[in-house]
Amino acid sequence: MIEPVSAQKSLTLPENLDGRVPALRTFAMPADSNANGDIFGGWILSQMDLAGGATAYEFVGDRVVTVGIQAMTFYKPVYIGDEVSFYTEVTASGRTSVTIRIESWARRRQTREYVKVTEGLFTFVHIDENRMPAPIPEK
Ligand SMILES: CC(C)(COP(=O)(O)OP(=O)(O)OC[C@H]1O[C@@H](n2cnc3c(N)ncnc32)[C@H](O)[C@@H]1OP(=O)(O)O)[C@@H](O)C(=O)NCCC(=O)NCCS
Repeated sequence: MIEPVSAQKSLTLPENLDGRVPALRTFAMPADSNANGDIFGGWILSQMDLAGGATAYEFVGDRVVTVGIQAMTFYKPVYIGDEVSFYTEVTASGRTSVTIRIESWARRRQTREYVKVTEGLFTFVHIDENRMPAPIPEK
């Protein structure tokens, strides 16, 4: 389970990640950095969108689009060379939409420490061939 916001902290051991499989894992590269040498927030956001979209696609079983981001927090910077993993959890679903909480965890290149770097709540909508909202199929 993803911890509530009040319980968030950085871990030296990823105890609360035991047994969890990230929806996406990638590396932050020099081309993703800004003039200060830190990774762009927009890069992390787009990776979260990919991870959430993949989870929404699995949940819906069909085409989805991002309709909204209700909450987005950047807790810590991401550095070049960090391994970044994106963990997802479906928190709600409606007639056509599914909402997914996404946590990003960086594993520092030098220290190998795991740090929670962002968290966000993304909503995706199932769309039909005309790009109109469509009911989520019954399981
Ligand atoms: C997604 C899209 C098809 C929805 O069309 P719409 O006419 O606004 O649809 P509706 O008002 O019927 O809402 C559809 C669902 O989305 C939810 N929704 C709409 N706007 C939302 C928002 N800002 N945040 C969260 N959920 C939202 C509604 O509550 C509804 O959920 P439900 O059916 O589970 O109750 C349309 O807005 C769209 O095409 N947006 C662009 C999507 C896109 O290109 N994304 C990539 C960004 S580059």
